[in-house]
Amino acid sequence: MIGIFDSGIGGLTVVKAIMEQLPEYDIAYFGDTARTPYGSKSADTVAGYAAENTEFLLSKGARVIVVACNSASSVAMERLHKAYDGPIFEVITPAVEMAVAASAKHRIGVIGTRATVNSGIYTREILKCTPAAKVYSEACPLLVPLVEEGWLKKPETRMIVKKYLLPLKVRQVDTLILGCTHYPLLKTIIQAKIGKRVKIIDSSVAVAGKVRQFMDQQPEIAEAMAKNGRARFFVSDVTAQFEKIARFLLKKDINLTHVAL
Ligand code: DGL
Repeated sequence: MIGIFDSGIGGLTVVKAIMEQLPEYDIAYFGDTARTPYGSKSADTVAGYAAENTEFLLSKGARVIVVACNSASSVAMERLHKAYDGPIFEVITPAVEMAVAASAKHRIGVIGTRATVNSGIYTREILKCTPAAKVYSEACPLLVPLVEEGWLKKPETRMIVKKYLLPLKVRQVDTLILGCTHYPLLKTIIQAKIGKRVKIIDSSVAVAGKVRQFMDQQPEIAEAMAKNGRARFFVSDVTAQFEKIARFLLKKDINLTHVAL
């Protein structure tokens, strides 16, 4: 089973991408809705939560872990690799590889939570691939609550997105990484505000592609995984909002199981 976790709802964008690219695999999702958001918390706190979430998914039978949350992927991987020596995927490097391949002028913009932007991880990883690249990052803390309120097309959201993207537009980025689980839901507005020639990189699609590639290249692991196309959803706090967004994103009703970590 593929175990996927996020700080809450946003990781369902990764679930959707994994269901599209690996429809046969069983999935267990854990959304840490009781402790969300991660994006405004310290690196230590987020790394501790990520370790507990991973342990929980392993206890449910996951053999491959996907850290859907950008904030956790930014600050927790060292700790997670120490705790589990099996395959763990994060969302940063797949998005970086996609961005570097897509960017002609090597002027890359990154948007994410404060935890992600402050970690500097996207800049470091991009410069590892392309030392001459120019990387411009903006923390966009208001976007997560706007998405969770379902304000996907409101004029206020357009205005805030425009304001956040202005410094990146001025720097003439040619590629923009959506470095947060929630931002794919604002992709249309983001594309409109940053300009239609800028390539948008969705980290959920990027990580799903990596997991697919891994399964295709590691038949001994792939064969041992359950493949009934079943998905189970666990949350640390059951909320109507989670059910609503899940229905909207996955286009079906899901059963939530409450777990206290
Ligand atoms: N899942 C988080 C991320 O991708 C966004 C929500 C939060 O701050 O917890 O960074």
